Amino acid sequence: MKVILEVKNLHVAVDNKEILKGMDLTFYSGKIHAIMGPNGNGKSTLLSAIMGHPRYQITKGDILYKGQSILEMPVDERSRAGIFLAMQYPQEIAGVTNSDFLKAALNARLEKTISFYDFFNRLKKEVTNLKMDPQLSHRFLNEGFSGGEKKRNEILQMKLLKPELALFDEIDSGLDVDALRLVGKQINESRNDDFCGIIVSHYQRIFDIVKPDFVHILLDGKIVKSGDSSLINKIDSEGYDFLKLDFKATNKKRQSVTSLGLCGANLKSETESNKK
Ligand SMILES: Nc1ncnc2c1ncn2[C@@H]1O[C@H](COP(=O)(O)OP(=O)(O)OP(=O)(O)O)[C@@H](O)[C@H]1O
Ligand SMILES: [Mg+2]
Repeated sequence: MKVILEVKNLHVAVDNKEILKGMDLTFYSGKIHAIMGPNGNGKSTLLSAIMGHPRYQITKGDILYKGQSILEMPVDERSRAGIFLAMQYPQEIAGVTNSDFLKAALNARLEKTISFYDFFNRLKKEVTNLKMDPQLSHRFLNEGFSGGEKKRNEILQMKLLKPELALFDEIDSGLDVDALRLVGKQINESRNDDFCGIIVSHYQRIFDIVKPDFVHILLDGKIVKSGDSSLINKIDSEGYDFLKLDFKATNKKRQSVTSLGLCGANLKSETESNKK
């Protein structure tokens, strides 16, 4: 298996609050990785840190893309290098039409600018595949788009940009059943040996369509369990409680070892000062 991304002992803070607390994960080309975890535990933070959102401060650790650290790379360079993020809450940008945005994003990656004719042919093909209203291409980016239209538009960007590492943050939220199938199909069609997809979701439905090779559970800023897709069924029926209990038990064990260590140190210093 070919490694595409390595997250090493990653600590990330937002506005000086530590969210990711030492995360280690390896992602592989040709594979789909699912990341699940309760609300507010750091899933979007991880994806934003990989994409290079400037608000997320890496306080410790490293992110290696194709073997090279990307911590110093700004977002646009990461995008040109083949990383793509479909956002949980896509931004509305008034004044920039969707098609102008897509064309600029595409041209930034190409050595030779794409012709107007080729661009519109490609756009038309993908818009048809996604059963999107063609008018959406001519409106301002995401402005007034419905929840589902925004999510389809993220997939449209992905299809045009053809990333090697695609991060999908709750791409299934707000999609009706037909749209979910359609979006899943588009992701499946993007699968190849040089494509890695990381899909964050709360629900089994998307993973019934896009079958993940690996499943990782993120709890309190750390990966607490990795496994295969059977983990998704377990979470769907039992929730996260069994993992929280495991996690607490492990932490308690660690704490008691630490406090014993501290007691030992205190005892030692007391005995030493008594001797004096
Ligand atoms: N600017 C900020 N200041 C303080 N805390 C923040 C800030 N931004 C994010 N957080 C906190 O970071 C934590 C992790 O947020 P994140 O969006 O990564 O969670 P998530 O796992 O993606 O959750 P969800 O499943 O609800 O999308 C949350 O508790 C959130 O409130
Ligand atoms: Mg999130």
